Amino acid sequence: MVKWGQYSHPVTLLPCHPVTLLPFHPVTPSPRHLFTPSPRHQKLKNMAQITSIAVMTSGGDSPGMNAAIRAVVRTGIYCGLDVYGICRGYDGMIDDQIEPMLSSSVSNIIQRGGTILKTARSARFLEYSGRLQAYNNLKAHKIDALVAIGGNGTFTGASIFDKEFNFPIIGLPGTIDNDLYGTDATIGYDTAVNTVVEAADKIRDTANSHERLFFIEVMGRDAGFIALRSGIACGAEFILVPETTTYIDNLARLLRHDWRRSKTSGIVIVAEGDDAGGAYEVAKKVKEKLPEVDARVTILGHIQRGGAPSAFDRVLASSLGYLAVKGLLEGHRGEMAGIVKQEVVFTPFEKAIKHHKDINKEMLEMSRILAL
Ligand code: F6P
Repeated sequence: MVKWGQYSHPVTLLPCHPVTLLPFHPVTPSPRHLFTPSPRHQKLKNMAQITSIAVMTSGGDSPGMNAAIRAVVRTGIYCGLDVYGICRGYDGMIDDQIEPMLSSSVSNIIQRGGTILKTARSARFLEYSGRLQAYNNLKAHKIDALVAIGGNGTFTGASIFDKEFNFPIIGLPGTIDNDLYGTDATIGYDTAVNTVVEAADKIRDTANSHERLFFIEVMGRDAGFIALRSGIACGAEFILVPETTTYIDNLARLLRHDWRRSKTSGIVIVAEGDDAGGAYEVAKKVKEKLPEVDARVTILGHIQRGGAPSAFDRVLASSLGYLAVKGLLEGHRGEMAGIVKQEVVFTPFEKAIKHHKDINKEMLEMSRILAL
């Protein structure tokens, strides 16, 4: 059986691209009227009687969100649906920032970071009155279903909204943190890791020249996925993650005996959510134990959330955007679309949020061995 994402397969799934039917034109009338169903169109069966969908991005942005929006819009149009874009996440839903989207609306965005739909963390959507207003706006536009691209907060809101108003929603994992259960990778994670590695390589140069120890803080409030993967890729001497307890005494001892013995410079990757504190805090505590070490701190911050998505993220986002629309038409709802071991998986929102996806502890151990 050919699995999802194998090189031989995905391109054959959507051979006929709607963009050829709808060349860019700013005043193109609704694509629904231009769309000519082909025999291939019958492959995506509309069992849920959906005629109109909306797509939005919410929470922290991540590289690849635009590729996902593009895929949702064009798959929706291909299936004869009216497609709307909601600006600024749930806030925009409440404020009726809802616009029709054409194939041309998503031209030239697959390679762009950020999200053309903007994003927000909505406090008003936490209130019933906000959600009711949002529902009334969706109904006024005759929107039957929603594709919500985001992370934990987005899916928590989506789950409540579906239960309250019986509204079909499929979620796409859009976060650099990779902390959602039900997908091997979230959209943006791979790009963020590559951004960290690029920065860490540069820091390595100056660390070597000055014989310094650098503490590099990476994002990951509750999860160490970015820290672990980027740490291995840049050959970090130590990787500190929220999933394990950091003992400063132990770290100082290892630095003194293992690291000092064979190296004069080094990198410690610190996930922002590490229990010993952020990179500044950890560096301060280490300096108290090893005053002779010339230490510096770099906080990479929001550069990890920007930039052109990697090829991996573009393909993942495109696949998931397509699968979200297909899933909605097949009757899926209240679930996140993901890819696990190259299989398409729909995971209920509650499980995607609450079920813990653990980091690979053996890889953490391996990173220590390889840095000796
Ligand atoms: O949720 C993704 C994330 O990038 C976290 O890793 C980070 O802690 C947080 O967003 C930062 O959010 P904000 O942009 O609101 O400061």
